[in-house]
Amino acid sequence: MRKPVLEFRDVSFSYGGKKPILDQLNMTVYDREFVTIIGASGSGKSTLFRLITGLEQEETGAVWLNGEQFKSRHGRTGYMPQQDLLMPWRTVLENASVPLELAGVSKREAAKRIIPLLDEFGLEGSADKYPSELSGGMRQRVSFLRSVLTGSNILLLDEPFSALDAITRLSMQEWLLDQWEQREKTILFITHDVNEALFLSDRIFIFRDTPVRTLEEVAVPLSRPRSQRDLNDPAVIKLKNDLIDQLRNEVKKP
Ligand SMILES: Nc1ncnc2c1ncn2[C@@H]1O[C@H](COP(=O)(O)OP(=O)(O)O)[C@@H](O)[C@H]1O
Ligand SMILES: [Mg+2]
Repeated sequence: MRKPVLEFRDVSFSYGGKKPILDQLNMTVYDREFVTIIGASGSGKSTLFRLITGLEQEETGAVWLNGEQFKSRHGRTGYMPQQDLLMPWRTVLENASVPLELAGVSKREAAKRIIPLLDEFGLEGSADKYPSELSGGMRQRVSFLRSVLTGSNILLLDEPFSALDAITRLSMQEWLLDQWEQREKTILFITHDVNEALFLSDRIFIFRDTPVRTLEEVAVPLSRPRSQRDLNDPAVIKLKNDLIDQLRNEVKKP
């Protein structure tokens, strides 16, 4: 039996009672799934993440995490927001420490836990560097490390690779899949890149009309491990073209 780790039950949401974004949305994500959300800009993808993290509250309905409903969902998911929020005045080590500090872990203990992880995150020798001294890919790895250090089984990654050049992006995708498998996490990932969605995901959710009432859902017909070349499979190319058509239709609407 697959265990649900995230459930939306009839969730409705709007910002300040205006323009509804979600309308009685139901959604289930299962343990150790990789789910990608695609949709036109402004369709409410980031809002969905803000609801999951507890930064926004549902107006009606309920959000369940790991089979429970919490009064406050703060700190219960690892969240990497759309803008990389590394603090420029903090080193890599100090930035990565934030979730541990919030959990009351001492600075020394935090460093003891983080230093061995830097290697695994491709950040060896960078503990004392500042974000401005890092490449885009390294900054994203620090952000990702920070979301993993929340200890949550659910990671929410909002367009994490959109600012990277094409080649760095491909290697970050492969790296992320490795991490996801090793760490046994459930990942929700937002992107507007259809290839990225196909390469990474088990399922793709499509945000079509706002307000979002139902999610259209596509299962990616690829086994794992995957290579970028698998995207040349005719079934995947067809799916890619269908997805692009759907997204294009969304944009054309008035
Ligand atoms: N804090 C906010 N207050 C009011 N409206 C917002 C706020 N954040 C986003 N919106 C609006 O909600 C809609 C969905 O935004 P968002 O979830 O960021 O979309 P996406 O991530 O799909 O591009 C947009 O119309 C946006 O302008
Ligand atoms: Mg967004």
